Amino acid sequence: MNSFIRKFKKKDIVDDSGRISWISPSNIALVKYWGKFGDQLPSNPSISLTLNEAKTTMDFSWSPKDKDSTEVQLDFYFEGKKNESFQEKISKYLVKHFDYFPFLRYISLEIESTNTFPHSAGIASSASSMSALALGLCTIESEVFGLDLSQEEIKRKATFMARLASGSACRSIYGGVVSWGDFEHQLINSTNEIAGEVLELDEVFKTYQDTILIVDSGQKAVSSRAGHALMTEHPFSQIRFSNARTNIEKIIKAMQTADLLEFCNIVESEALELHGLMMNSNPSFILMRPNTLAIIERIRDFRERTSLPVCFTLDAGPNVHILYPENISEQVKEFIISELSSFTESNKIIYDHVGTGPERYL
Ligand code: PMV
Repeated sequence: MNSFIRKFKKKDIVDDSGRISWISPSNIALVKYWGKFGDQLPSNPSISLTLNEAKTTMDFSWSPKDKDSTEVQLDFYFEGKKNESFQEKISKYLVKHFDYFPFLRYISLEIESTNTFPHSAGIASSASSMSALALGLCTIESEVFGLDLSQEEIKRKATFMARLASGSACRSIYGGVVSWGDFEHQLINSTNEIAGEVLELDEVFKTYQDTILIVDSGQKAVSSRAGHALMTEHPFSQIRFSNARTNIEKIIKAMQTADLLEFCNIVESEALELHGLMMNSNPSFILMRPNTLAIIERIRDFRERTSLPVCFTLDAGPNVHILYPENISEQVKEFIISELSSFTESNKIIYDHVGTGPERYL
């Protein structure tokens, strides 16, 4: 998609120093992206809820370089301290995608990043941080060269650029319910290269709560990169990619008609399929912990007992996300405190909900 590569010369610069800030949220997938090809293209479409509380704040400032060059000049600070390892990772990304950010030739960058959630909470920060990074860089391009792009135009390039940094981060550029991937459907406007909002679903999904039970805040046993790679030779990969497509079709229908119990069935089956795929891959990984299973069993039992539409989902790790509409919050929170909190690591519970997406605040 070369329309995102714009050519500029030094004389086009209208603002060679400045500051901007973005705050960008994490997201939780309902239908999971697991497996990729080419340059960060997904093997199947996915759909997610953008969260509200788990966010990254990124402050960007830029100033002229002493001499124009293709060398990337970046200083990166995380939670107030210089962070060499993040700086190296981001510098590599900037070198690789230099053509998309032509201002890098003329200016040096300073980035300060903080998360609203603790680093060791067991929450993946790549979606919020890489979406904030992409939004910042695309905004700087607009400011440096006086493009006067609208936020919509900035987000369109940012979803493309976030994907190149960390696949699922492309969905965090938009609020509410978001899809990513090619899929023939009236409500889907994403492609394999960019994410898009899924509109015209039942309003109840704007109220969805995501309570995250931290079972283990340790490092992930398998990185996303290694996890996606496992799908290349996986014996069930084709079945998986086709199941995901069927589930996208089904979940959109359930979300249009507010069939919340059907929604629960699809979401849980997606989470377990993701973990099943990892158990069946070579090498194989069991990422759930005994307490993950204990929580899952109790959620299913609670749903059966009460007929309330509460379900769980999982990322590629042991922590459990509990999803439910706001109007049953009281009963669900009581259930979580009385029956589930003992299975968490030192009572680590994060109360989040669907949010409206990233915001620029400077
Ligand atoms: O975006 P990545 O490469 O970190 O992969 C994310 C994969 C899952 O979180 C397991 C699923 C998803 O769609 O977010």
